[in-house]
Amino acid sequence: EVHSHLEKSIRPYIDLIDTLRSVGIHKDLALPTIVVIGDQSSGKSSVLEALSGVALPRGSGIVTRCPLELRLKKVPGVNWKAVLTYNSKTAGPIRASRLVNGNAAQSTHNEEKIEFTNPLSVEERVAAAQNELAGKGLGICGELITLEIMSPDVCDLTLIDLPGIARVPVNGQPEDIGKQIKRLIMKYINKRETINLVVVPCNTDIATTEALKMAQEVDPDGKRTVAILTKPDLIDKGTEKSVLAIVNNEVIPLRKGYIMVKCRGQQQIDDEIPLEEAVQTERDFFQNHDYFRCLLELEKATIKCLAVKLTQDLVDHIKKSLPQLQEQIKKQLWNVKKPLKDCEHGPPEDLDGAKEFLIKTLNGFNEKIKSLSSGEPSTE
Ligand code: GDP
Ligand code: NA
Ligand code: MG
Repeated sequence: EVHSHLEKSIRPYIDLIDTLRSVGIHKDLALPTIVVIGDQSSGKSSVLEALSGVALPRGSGIVTRCPLELRLKKVPGVNWKAVLTYNSKTAGPIRASRLVNGNAAQSTHNEEKIEFTNPLSVEERVAAAQNELAGKGLGICGELITLEIMSPDVCDLTLIDLPGIARVPVNGQPEDIGKQIKRLIMKYINKRETINLVVVPCNTDIATTEALKMAQEVDPDGKRTVAILTKPDLIDKGTEKSVLAIVNNEVIPLRKGYIMVKCRGQQQIDDEIPLEEAVQTERDFFQNHDYFRCLLELEKATIKCLAVKLTQDLVDHIKKSLPQLQEQIKKQLWNVKKPLKDCEHGPPEDLDGAKEFLIKTLNGFNEKIKSLSSGEPSTE
């Protein structure tokens, strides 16, 4: 019952934000979101995959080439269903409906909307959308791809996967690919409304991780940064204690702290170990670990624990942002209403007054046109 109570109390908030986002309000207002960042191959997609239960495009090198928004909706009693949405580049002004998997998928303007019911085709469909937006090859693109998944087996979360930070450009990548990726990441993480999920492998020098540095830069107090330590099974022997000190917040303190997770390695994927089995494997791994066993009790380990923590974080964050959001909407509404009010009375009755009114209106109009063509905001 505890779980269903939690669901009742969080669902409305997450729905509200998703609805606002789907009408495009995020172009004017910053909405709270969880964003996943980290070096290439740090395990970002693996964490998202474990949270969502959906196989995402992943592997070595750059795989995520456009921001991917993953909207997870827990819907009891339905069959797994997904909708992929993005702004198609090739489209004309209005596209005809398309048939996908026997479902009529509506597309208006140049928005591509594809419904499907086979979880195994996610990878292929996301890859196809990326190819259309970022071109085939190794380039990146800032256009958002949205994947909404409805299933009884997911948790209620909205997350954005971003391209991983690349150190050296590989063949065929632009020279400034590293800069391009960092710029894209910055655009997402420097918003106050974003919760930054920083993915760092245990087998690297955690303190010098670029993604952690970027998060610290935009969030010096660590109020909205959560670090996820991945690949604990690949840790270098002898470094366990220093990693434990990091998880216990003793080295780089973050208010929201650290969580350690173990996802499927390449071998487990090649062996087609299902995600449900990986959950048990993860639990066994921690229970049998001499150093990391204690993290279970502290609720600083496992994907399950991460999912609960994130959902709660997101809801807290949304609750906190709501008054601010309302303030912003009020302000924008007033900015629209004021000029409307000025027109309300119409022209004065007398001829001189009417002339003056007409000249004022025309001048205003003239200025608007000028400012539009020069690209500068009008002084009104
Ligand atoms: P991304 O580039 O950050 O999205 O990283 P991926 O999720 O694609 O992971 C890169 C590689 O690391 C893949 O081969 C994963 O199977 C592997 N990997 C991810 N997490 C773990 C883990 O906890 N343990 C092990 N052994 N391998 C992992
Ligand atoms: Na990768
Ligand atoms: Mg990835």
